[in-house]
Amino acid sequence: MTWFRLGGPARWLCRPRDAEELARLVRRARDAEVPLKVLGGGANVLISDDGFDGVVVRLDQPSFRQVQRGGHSVRAGAGVDLMRFSKECSEAGLSGLECMAGIPGSVGGAVRMNAGGRFGDIGGAVREVEVLHSDGRLERRTSEQMGFGYRQSNLDDAIALSVTFELSESDPEATKGRFEEIFSFKTASQPLSAKSAGCIFKNPPGSSAGALIDRAGLKGARRGGASVSTRHANFIVAEVGARSSDVLFLIDLIRERVAREFDTALEVEVDIWRGAREGVLV
Ligand code: EPU
Repeated sequence: MTWFRLGGPARWLCRPRDAEELARLVRRARDAEVPLKVLGGGANVLISDDGFDGVVVRLDQPSFRQVQRGGHSVRAGAGVDLMRFSKECSEAGLSGLECMAGIPGSVGGAVRMNAGGRFGDIGGAVREVEVLHSDGRLERRTSEQMGFGYRQSNLDDAIALSVTFELSESDPEATKGRFEEIFSFKTASQPLSAKSAGCIFKNPPGSSAGALIDRAGLKGARRGGASVSTRHANFIVAEVGARSSDVLFLIDLIRERVAREFDTALEVEVDIWRGAREGVLV
């Protein structure tokens, strides 16, 4: 279920039919002190080989995948596929999400981590997020109340149910062209068709993690079935036979080498779900 195609099983996999069922589930998990995580599109997670000893929720049922348009604002369920959604908005001449071209995942997951790149972040197009707390309480947060920053929001334990985007009506040819231009840039510079989780590290302030890893000579470094991409050094790609532990090994190797050579501490961007046997449940 992840883009890496790595990681062990979940103790429970739950696919609630609607927000009410999800609210009951999160309350029950909280009362029983069972860890619960929402797996969005699985594009930015690395799950331990041991799996996850808790509840994994997928918001893939129809009530979480609805899209409603009202003029230039569009509301999308958290389970909507980000790439398809941003492409459809661009084709319809709704501008604001072209910067999401080439970014896989779900709308909810993308908002949670404020996905983006040099062309813009998703937070820049958000008007409001419908949020569910672990006690089952619903809340609406405006974009200003979401605490959007570089690859972050303040969702923490809360779950995004739906997101309303404020887009602008524009010439469909122009928005579609811009989407395609950004997509072409990504396919030329990133290994988009390989099994990966996108960029592994956040860019340190004023610098590029990819460029530093590249300059450290780590492109192509390999452990088991995992290797540092030769196309973009901030990607680790997994081949047949790879294990999560191979990727974790490379993550440590990269951090060590970059710290030693450039005195820079790289911070992991992917969400790592560790198994019970490895100690902490994050
Ligand atoms: N570079 C290298 N070697 C490499 C990779 C990059 O020298 O192996 C150099 C490039 O030549 C360029 C600079 O580093 O001069 C920056 O590279 P790039 O334009 O690819 O951007 P990035 O900072 O590495 C960011 C996001 C990407 C996003 C791209 C494009 C982060 C951590 N990464 O990458 O996001 O797609 O901009 O918008 O913010 C992701 O978050 O998963 C991700 C892939």
